[in-house]
Amino acid sequence: MSNISLILKQFSRSVLLIAGFAILGFSARAQGDAAKGEGIFKANCTACHKLDQKMTGPALGPVITADTDDKWLTKWIQNNKALIAAGDAKAVKVYNDNQQGNMTVFATLSDGDVANVLAYVRTEYKAMQEKAKAAPATAAAADSGPSNLVIFGLIAVIVIAFIVILLLNKVIGTLERLLLNKKGLAVEEVEVDDKAAARKAEFKKLLKNKKLVGFFIVCAVICGGSWQWVTLWNTNVHTGYQPVQPIKFPHDLHAGVMKIECQYCHAGAFKSKNATIPSLNVCMNCHKSVDRRMDASAPSTEIAKIYTALGYDPATTKYDSTKAKPVQWIRIHNLPDLAYFNHSQHTKVGGLKCQTCHGPVETMQEVYQYSPLTMKWCIQCHKRTEVNYKGNAYYDNMIQVHDKIKRGEKVTAAALGGIECGKCHY
Ligand code: HEC
Ligand code: HEC
Ligand code: HEC
Ligand code: HEC
Ligand code: HEC
Ligand code: HEC
Repeated sequence: MSNISLILKQFSRSVLLIAGFAILGFSARAQGDAAKGEGIFKANCTACHKLDQKMTGPALGPVITADTDDKWLTKWIQNNKALIAAGDAKAVKVYNDNQQGNMTVFATLSDGDVANVLAYVRTEYKAMQEKAKAAPATAAAADSGPSNLVIFGLIAVIVIAFIVILLLNKVIGTLERLLLNKKGLAVEEVEVDDKAAARKAEFKKLLKNKKLVGFFIVCAVICGGSWQWVTLWNTNVHTGYQPVQPIKFPHDLHAGVMKIECQYCHAGAFKSKNATIPSLNVCMNCHKSVDRRMDASAPSTEIAKIYTALGYDPATTKYDSTKAKPVQWIRIHNLPDLAYFNHSQHTKVGGLKCQTCHGPVETMQEVYQYSPLTMKWCIQCHKRTEVNYKGNAYYDNMIQVHDKIKRGEKVTAAALGGIECGKCHY
């Protein structure tokens, strides 16, 4: 039965090879042209175009992905006005279907520049689509060790290995029989009449093969174990959590398309521990006059919920506080009380962007929990992130205190921040 150990050895070698290639494949993302195109696109086009949404100009992702006529696209981008004036049918149609001549002329962009922009738009849009599909799943995978892909890959490899072993066993059996036949030795045939019995006998033979059975028990233990390991690690981890909110508040519209700053609504995020959810009065700064989507003919039922909650009657523009029923937003991110997390320390002092922890909120129709919020997640970032201590009074003070300690001078708790309100109160 050394055949099988040999096979196993070969097999583990191939698995390593395959895994190696897979990792190489994943890391080899498209670069070069698209990377150059990104800068050009951001500098020239983002004022009017987004990849996935209509702004002043059409959403460029789908347009440039579907349109493979790069020559036309280049002419259009370099000088759309000339193309329209020349009566180019496609240009005239785009002109008529849209804002009619609102696009700038980019005569300074070379053919190479435009090719880079096109490459960027296509790769970026493709990535966006894939990310949108996989967003909650990939975020979860970032923390949960082996991804589904790896697990399915392993299972597939095991199944294939099983089939290979069966086939090889058969071949070896036949070869042995041939060899014995050649030597003129009689082969003891299992005396069976029908095929079913023959198969049964074969199966029994396999079951007696201790190494094979052992191999499967080990496989079962590995699979079951990894599954349980992943399940246990993800207990109480709510990545992707997206409760149904009382008002379908679209972040993509407000923070994305309209580009309202996060702190306009989450004023605490730079100043205090809590980012805070805005009161409906903040919404009314705009929604007093905006009662519907720009492209809608009827008032929005979602915006009407703001009015109901405030007891506001848009017909009379009067508030009736007796009718007010505060909106009960459902909290998405929630650390247990045993952990202290302070937003201002991370955004203001640490200089981190909201998106580092909350993901691309400005593209989310409704917010979901992007990061796992596990202790491992906090600690991994603390280990990786370099602190920017330049021009930071706190660290300047630490250096002064450090020098005093070195000189053997008196240092009080106050010098370490012991009289700052926030150290004792929050
Ligand atoms: C000042 C606003 C503005 C800027 C800046 C701008 N565009 Fe446009 N773009 C438009 C508008 C508006 C249209 C629709 C045509 C029209 O109304 O003239 C358009 C149309 C297009 C189209 C054709 C879409 C179709 O349906 O076939 C492409 C491609 C395009 N733009 C690419 C670009 C690229 C690339 C850049 C940056 C180099 C850019 N645009 C910068 C406003 C702009
Ligand atoms: C116009 C107001 C407004 C703007 C601008 C805004 N938000 Fe919000 N945000 C809300 C409201 C209202 C909620 C509560 C409803 C919900 O969860 O969707 C919320 C919820 C959230 C939550 C989930 C809170 C929880 O329950 O755990 C996060 C995270 C968040 N916003 C991040 C951001 C970020 C990052 C930005 C900027 C890119 C931003 N928001 C911009 C109004 C706003
Ligand atoms: C700076 C102005 C502004 C603020 C502040 C603002 N909104 Fe809006 N909101 C708009 C505009 C403008 C639209 C319509 C956009 C469009 O049609 O493209 C809109 C659309 C909406 C919609 C979509 C309605 C539909 O039928 O799809 C909802 C829901 C909404 N807002 C809720 C809120 C809530 C809740 C708040 C407060 C947390 C808020 N908005 C704060 C300007 C604002
Ligand atoms: C270092 C990671 C990190 C960064 C950066 C960050 N947040 Fe948070 N955010 C969290 C965590 C963790 C929670 C849960 C806090 C809790 O339950 O006590 C949270 C909760 C929230 C909440 C809901 C609860 C609350 O605190 O009111 C909102 C809204 C929010 N964040 C918005 C923002 C905005 C806006 C920014 C950017 C200005 C931002 N966050 C930056 C990690 C972060
Ligand atoms: C994306 C990176 C990142 C994540 C995720 C993150 N932090 Fe931080 N954290 C920082 C940085 C950077 C600082 C240092 C800021 C400074 O003081 O310069 C910091 C500082 C802190 C401090 C102050 C440490 C001290 O000695 O002053 C605490 C407490 C803290 N974080 C708690 C948490 C908790 C709890 C979580 C998880 C819920 C978390 N952080 C997640 C980046 C992160
Ligand atoms: C060394 C810790 C510490 C520091 C620093 C500190 N406090 Fe206090 N503070 C306390 C304690 C403890 C109490 C409760 C005392 C009591 O109940 O008798 C308190 C009570 C208070 C109260 C009264 C609360 C009430 O319900 O009566 C206020 C207001 C207050 N502090 C504000 C501040 C301000 C403002 C600062 C910064 C200038 C500050 N504290 C700094 C520890 C501290």
